[in-house]
Amino acid sequence: MSLHIGPWALPHPVCAAPMAGVTDRPYRRLCKALGAAYAVSEMAASNPRLWDSVKTARRLDHAGEPDPVAVQIAGADPDMLAEAAVFNVRKGARIIDINMGCPAKKVCNQASGSALLRDEALVGRILERVVAACAPLGVPVTLKTRTGWDRDSRNAVRIARLAEDCGIAALTLHGRTRCDLYTGQAEYDTLRQVRQAIRIPLIANGDIDSPEKARQVLDYTGANAIMVGRAAQGRPWIFREIAHYLAHGTHLPAPTYGELREHLLGHLEDHYTFYGERSGVRSARKHIGWYLADLPGADTLLPRIMTLDSTALQSRALRDWLEDRPATAPAVAEP
Ligand SMILES: Cc1cc2nc3c(=O)[nH]c(=O)nc-3n(C[C@H](O)[C@H](O)[C@H](O)COP(=O)(O)O)c2cc1C
Repeated sequence: MSLHIGPWALPHPVCAAPMAGVTDRPYRRLCKALGAAYAVSEMAASNPRLWDSVKTARRLDHAGEPDPVAVQIAGADPDMLAEAAVFNVRKGARIIDINMGCPAKKVCNQASGSALLRDEALVGRILERVVAACAPLGVPVTLKTRTGWDRDSRNAVRIARLAEDCGIAALTLHGRTRCDLYTGQAEYDTLRQVRQAIRIPLIANGDIDSPEKARQVLDYTGANAIMVGRAAQGRPWIFREIAHYLAHGTHLPAPTYGELREHLLGHLEDHYTFYGERSGVRSARKHIGWYLADLPGADTLLPRIMTLDSTALQSRALRDWLEDRPATAPAVAEP
């Protein structure tokens, strides 16, 4: 089972979801090293006035990330989005993903993100314009969206057909509406309907947190691939676990404390180099919290880690704690 996005043939159908503030370059590189066939970057602003900020400069840095580098753009102005797409291609993007799924106020207030789902004519203009700008560069354009604005106005099937007609190369669908935010359970009936309505690849997203769930969602929806977001936080090896299960029907062993140490400390090194000392020590805390969540004994370590304000102290504390655990024992959360 493979996934094709334009000219890119990806070896298996397990993808990492874009998450603003999380899926930065160090994290994407790690996800890819641990089995994600594909990873989409955090959203990049389509407004050129923001392109010089430090934050945006970091988001434009793809050095050392295995291809295809996929960059997500968000906005509501077709020309500005097309310009942003070309700008990102010049900075190394090999695939452009348009975000129409983000419920964040910052995005929705400007009538972009998932708010666009209420204006299908504008959706069409955006998709056409961005595809037309990227086609001469040989860069496929994908769309990531939700099932609709709210449960009474689910229009994912119409949006999917529109996307296909406009030349979108693949569609990622999160099984919630904008108004659901992240509440309740993702539903997959709409994804199944969408799969039957279009020919382009469909990537299923929402609440996929285990190899079994990935198998169920693929089987139920008929989607070509799955995309994992929150379940990979602090657990980037989930991609190879899912890929292995989909290919062989068996489970890989859980990572050991020795492997956790290697992945976590390696991640932190890359993170510190990318963000620098001051910003690095702070932004690493959330990742550390996710890695250690529910590990036996971590509840006493975590509050102390959160107060350390140098990268050297932070990684030393983690190294010491992990070296006290048996390297070959599985690092498994408390039930
Ligand atoms: C912290 C966070 C940030 C996110 N940022 C983005 C984003 O920038 N662009 C986007 O399309 N989706 C974004 N999402 C949505 C995810 O890509 C994904 O669709 C959603 O989390 C559902 O998948 P999951 O259940 O596997 O997490 C974000 C989600 C989270 C939790």
